[in-house]
Amino acid sequence: MTQIATKFLPFHRASIEEEEIRAVVEVLRSGWLTKGPKVQEFETAFAAYTGARHALAVNSCTAALHLGLAAIGLAEGDEVIVPTMTFAASGEVVLYFKARPVLVDCSGSTGQMAPDEMARAITSRTKAIMPMHYAGYPCDMERILEIANRYNLRVIEDAAHALPTRCKGRLVGTLSDITCFSFYATKTMTTGEGGMATTENEDFADRMRLLSLHGISRDAWKRYTAEGSWRYDILEAGYKYNFTDIQAALGLAQLAKCDAMHARRSELAARYTAAIASLEAFEAPPVPIDGQHAWHLYAIQLNTVALRINRDQVIEELKQRGIGTSVHFIPLHLHSLYQGRLGYRPGQFPVAEKYFEREISLPIYPSMTNEQCDDVIEALHEITRQFRR
Ligand SMILES: Cc1ncc(COP(=O)(O)O)c(C=O)c1O
Repeated sequence: MTQIATKFLPFHRASIEEEEIRAVVEVLRSGWLTKGPKVQEFETAFAAYTGARHALAVNSCTAALHLGLAAIGLAEGDEVIVPTMTFAASGEVVLYFKARPVLVDCSGSTGQMAPDEMARAITSRTKAIMPMHYAGYPCDMERILEIANRYNLRVIEDAAHALPTRCKGRLVGTLSDITCFSFYATKTMTTGEGGMATTENEDFADRMRLLSLHGISRDAWKRYTAEGSWRYDILEAGYKYNFTDIQAALGLAQLAKCDAMHARRSELAARYTAAIASLEAFEAPPVPIDGQHAWHLYAIQLNTVALRINRDQVIEELKQRGIGTSVHFIPLHLHSLYQGRLGYRPGQFPVAEKYFEREISLPIYPSMTNEQCDDVIEALHEITRQFRR
């Protein structure tokens, strides 16, 4: 690879093929665009895939997390334990209720919330724990659920990165009270925007379904079909969080190749990991011993002792060589909202800060070729040679 690349390798590219395009066109031709039969079909297929009893498709993972917290009865003044190493959505949904996101540091090697820190953060106000399977690496759910049970806390998994993650052989989706997935454009399967809440608990499922569409007693599709009636009743002030048949058509086509897409991401991850082992300037992400990584992100760590340049400069060097990257995440406690309104301060969660300062997410998606993966690896070699201390 030459120093200045002619073609840019984007950080992400969705795997949209003819079957997705055909499925969406079919819905457009059907005359029914919003929540209808395709949404039901997608929910049934997703429940079957994860093994969950109930699956509710909504317009984002953020909406699913919000509905999940509503379903467990989160109230003003309650506390919810949230990792600081996560995206805006995981904390903001707690603030919707005037409850407090209690942030917790992560473990250095995996970026996951550290269970011991989590246990220490529990108070008499704690209502729930929201673990997040960072990058798609499985959280230690056995430990988290054991702690939650001991203190009678609810667990809502933020599984935005975790399709298909396995914890000790079991797919994420049935392990805790409610699990929330994301189908945002960059996720392991996508519907453009979208999310799914799964649960084994019928009461939670009913409540999330009711609140997801204005708190109305029945959905619009049934109202407009031959067996439906125009009558409806507003039971509660709900939200406009419904999924659409257009998204569901995309989702069904993506779900059908979820395992194949995962297999390809796993191959790319293995290729990266084998190559990075010989590079002292970079550390490959850990591979779970008794679980399955979804490989939503391939998150490397920079060895700042070995290299003269920092993370931002490495990202710039990769960009110069035609490689798109990203950073996951700026820990929540470093943001203005969390410092201003909630009193968090820099230095409070040192492991997460160090992890963030050294983190780079490399491109990993099914349509990436081995040659493109090797280009990234070669660029890391070049940077190591050029900027070694
Ligand atoms: C960890 C995490 N949680 C939640 C979300 C929110 O997902 P959505 O965009 O589907 O609302 C994201 C999105 O990037 C995320 O990374």
